[in-house]
Amino acid sequence: MDAFKMRSIKPLSLTFLFFALILGSGSAVGAENRGAKEILLNGGTSGPVPFPHQRHQDIIGDCMICQDLFPQQSGAIDELKSQEKLAKKQVMNQSCTRCHRAKKAAGEAKYGPIACSQCHRK
Ligand code: HEC
Ligand code: HEC
Repeated sequence: MDAFKMRSIKPLSLTFLFFALILGSGSAVGAENRGAKEILLNGGTSGPVPFPHQRHQDIIGDCMICQDLFPQQSGAIDELKSQEKLAKKQVMNQSCTRCHRAKKAAGEAKYGPIACSQCHRK
């Protein structure tokens, strides 16, 4: 909960992001908490979205690519959406598919799913 409040207070928010970054770079530091290995995201009426979280940490390296949209907290995306601080499909469009599309456009061999049914499981 505190993380949400902090977002509205600039200096604290930066402090939070700083520590989130430190905590998030667990692979480099060792035993830090990297969060869940696999996360089942709520995809609304289109069906749940299995998300290989730690695999993305390994591929992307920079936690803040996602974590600047929402804090490192289970249920954070749903919570922010219910508070209308995140729009529906905002994470999907601004983070998930944006990155996958960009990697595909750049000609990278591994770019992640772009079609609805590759992410949303009914
Ligand atoms: C890379 C994975 C991915 C792909 C591809 C994808 N989605 Fe999503 N989608 C998500 C995630 C994650 C969420 C939940 C976060 C959010 O709302 O941004 C979501 C949320 C949604 C929601 C629920 C919004 C809400 O709050 O009610 C709908 C509807 C949806 N997607 C439709 C689609 C459709 C239609 C397509 C294909 C054109 C698609 N998605 C492709 C990952 C994906
Ligand atoms: C900054 C880039 C980036 C972002 C952001 C990102 N992905 Fe990916 N994703 C990738 C890449 C690269 C791969 C290909 C990895 C591979 O094939 O080894 C991938 C692969 C995947 C896969 C397929 C894994 C498999 O088993 O083949 C899924 C599912 C996925 N992403 C879902 C998501 C969802 C859902 C989000 C948003 C919550 C997301 N990704 C955000 C880069 C990204």
